Amino acid sequence: MSPLKSPTVLVTGANRGIGFEFAKQYAEKGWRVIACARQPEEAAALKKLAAEFPDVSIKPLDVSDLDSIDALATRLEGQPIDILINNAGVFGEFADQSFGALRHDKFDMFMRTNARGALKMSEAFVDHIKAGRKKKIIAITSQAGSFGLNSGGLPGQYFYKASKAALNMFMRNVAADLKEHGIIVGILSPGMVLTRPAPERKFPGLIEPPESIAGMIEVIDGLTLEQSGAFIRYTGEVQPW
Ligand SMILES: NC(=O)c1ccc[n+]([C@@H]2O[C@H](COP(=O)([O-])OP(=O)(O)OC[C@H]3O[C@@H](n4cnc5c(N)ncnc54)[C@H](OP(=O)(O)O)[C@@H]3O)[C@@H](O)[C@H]2O)c1
Repeated sequence: MSPLKSPTVLVTGANRGIGFEFAKQYAEKGWRVIACARQPEEAAALKKLAAEFPDVSIKPLDVSDLDSIDALATRLEGQPIDILINNAGVFGEFADQSFGALRHDKFDMFMRTNARGALKMSEAFVDHIKAGRKKKIIAITSQAGSFGLNSGGLPGQYFYKASKAALNMFMRNVAADLKEHGIIVGILSPGMVLTRPAPERKFPGLIEPPESIAGMIEVIDGLTLEQSGAFIRYTGEVQPW
């Protein structure tokens, strides 16, 4: 009997930050990695990873563009995907998201990328996931999208917070709709992760990508259908909505 093929993970926004670390850690585990980037030709770190691990392939994907998502789903038609990681997201600038100076023209971009992107990806790739063995759809959300955790009242970040709250609701719905197909949805918070070497972002509690992503991979591994639709921190604790 031939051995089972390595599992496959698709990661959006895999050219840097958390997405890149997911691609790297899954590649190191021997997985097939479909690493997506808006501009593959400029994804230097990913190209290096793909040169080291032949099972890493780089694909173009803009999650804010419905046609781009459909094009990739069609291109990968018939290929089982075990885990879809909806990681791509925009945090934006604090200055654009402060009351009194809100850049309302940017609202759509946050919602299209952070919320609708993961919903459309889940819909477009549902057959690939059904064909996979692990059948998991993951969304990388944020504690900033939680009403419970925001009760202390962190100021600003209007569009980012609202887009992550919308993402959480979308993925709860997806979890309910796909349960009958045995598909498990995980809504994961990565903690505060230092994804850019910006000294002003060095505040207590910030962790390095390897720690956050190793934690999330462990959480993803252990996710069961009974937990589908839960909001879970990289450490495994269930988070309040
Ligand atoms: N870092 C944290 O502390 C933290 C905390 C909570 C949640 N998160 C979430 O974790 C995810 C990754 O964060 P990060 O810190 O790694 O951010 P990052 O370093 O800013 O990277 C964001 C990634 O998303 C990609 N992206 C942005 N818009 C896209 C689009 N329309 N289509 C496809 N890809 C797009 C970027 O690609 P380009 O290079 O082309 O821009 C980049 O690869 C985000 O969803 C973020 O909200 C992060």
